[in-house]
This record gives sequence, structure tokens and C-alpha cells, in this order.
Amino acid sequence: MKLRVQDMSIAFEGKQVLENVNLSVEEGEFVAMIGPSGCGKSTLLNIFAGLLHAQKGTFFVDEKEVSGVSSHFAYMPQNDLLLPWKTILDNVTLYGKLHGTQKEDKKKALKEFEAFGLSGYENAYPFELSGGMRQRAAFLRTALCSADIMLLDEPFGALDVITRNDMQDWLLKLRQELHRTTLLVTHDVDEALYLADRIIVLQGHPASIVKEIDLKGFHKDRDWLYDQKQLRKEIRDLLKGEDYAA
Ligand SMILES: Nc1ncnc2c1ncn2[C@@H]1O[C@H](COP(=O)(O)OP(=O)(O)O)[C@@H](O)[C@H]1O
Ligand SMILES: [Mg+2]
Repeated sequence: MKLRVQDMSIAFEGKQVLENVNLSVEEGEFVAMIGPSGCGKSTLLNIFAGLLHAQKGTFFVDEKEVSGVSSHFAYMPQNDLLLPWKTILDNVTLYGKLHGTQKEDKKKALKEFEAFGLSGYENAYPFELSGGMRQRAAFLRTALCSADIMLLDEPFGALDVITRNDMQDWLLKLRQELHRTTLLVTHDVDEALYLADRIIVLQGHPASIVKEIDLKGFHKDRDWLYDQKQLRKEIRDLLKGEDYAA
């Protein structure tokens, strides 16, 4: 098992947010976690990234317990921003600069610009790019990080519906090539259905996992997604009664 989480609980100022979260992600698997806004999805990713500490519970990567900041996770936080005064190439190799490997990273990055739909924009500044392109650049920065598990926190949340759909189509294709263990957080039911090998539904106050849906073995395209009325309803019913808008 690549990532395994055992009985994870966290409270803020006495308010219990997550309670006994148990989940696992296999090597190479793409898991989407869906839950209402404020239920603790970003909190969970922050625990994995070592930015927050759980009161209770442990998690393991390759069956070794992890605590604090580790090199296992490439994290694209919610509202990841590009630095406006740096070019796209400098932005996507920012971590390389911090680690003293920017030169090698630039070589690696330049090879990926085409796959990320950014060719020709290597020396452009963020304001010259569309919203979708900026998200792809932030994504490329995360993908270039060689850590073995990608954590993506609502990477398309701020985009309009049409751009978001384009980005999902793009990611569906890219994920076969990247073949990275990925945990994607979203509040968009269709995004989860379309992209994930497995969906984990978080719900309740405090939140815990109420359902897992296995979607391996399907050939996914927009027609397939359109036909998933039953699953869509099932997930929406689970989230119903919560402060949920989608
Ligand atoms: N560092 C923090 N201090 C206090 N409360 C926090 C902190 N981080 C998150 N929370 C609270 O925890 C709950 C879950 O937040 P979050 O994980 O951001 O939800 P989600 O990502 O599912 O929308 C919210 O009520 C939020 O206000
Ligand atoms: Mg969040």
C-alpha cells in the first residue's frame, strides 16, 4: 500500500473536524476525495504535507510511519499562486531554486511544456496566460517535484465550467502518461467520477469516510460520464443536507 491512514482525528479550538479517518491509496492509483466545503479535506492534505499535526492517528507511506514534513508528497495547495514577477519557467522550477537544482530542473521542465499546453510561454509572465494555463503551470510545478505522491487540492476549483471541463479532459489523458499516485480533493461530483480510479466520500460533523466507490476498469469519456446518473445521484444523496453547492 502506497499511503495508508489510520484513525486520523483532528480538532481546532475544541471543534472536532475529522474523526477516525481511515483510507489507503495504492501505488499508481488516482483517488478523488469528495466532501462538502469545510468538512476537512484541505486539513487532511495539510496533515500529510506535515503542515498540521493530527491529535490522533498515524499515516504510513510504503508501510513506514511518517511524521512531520517528509519528501513523499508533491503538494498543490488550494489557491496555489504563481509569482507575478517571475517567468513561467522560473515559476515552475521554483522548488529547484530552493533546493539548488534549478538548472537540471529547467531542462526537465522544458521537455514538459508541450504536454502541459504551455509551449511558447516559457518566458512569459503569469498575467499573459489564461486562467487554465496558469493552473496548468501550477500543476507542472507540482508534477516536476519528484516526490512519489501528488496531493492536488481543488486544482480547477477557481475556473469557469468550460475551462474546467477542458482541464479535466487534459488531466484524464495526462494521468495515463504521468502514472503517479495521486490524491485529488474536489467538491465536484462529475470531476471525481470522470478522473478517479476510486472515489472516497467524506461527510458529517466531524467528518469521516462514509463511502468508497471503485471505478477501475471503465473506459472513461464524456459519454460515459453523462450516463452515470445512478452514481451521481448516490454521491449527491450522501452529501445532501450538508452545506453543499455544485
Ligand atoms: N489552522 C486552522 N485553525 C483553525 N481552524 C481551522 C484551521 N484549518 C482549518 N480549520 C477549520 O477546519 C474546518 C475544515 O477546513 P478545511 O480543511 O479547509 O475544509 P475543506 O477543505 O473541506 O473545505 C473548517 O471549519 C475550518 O474553518
Ligand atoms: Mg479546502
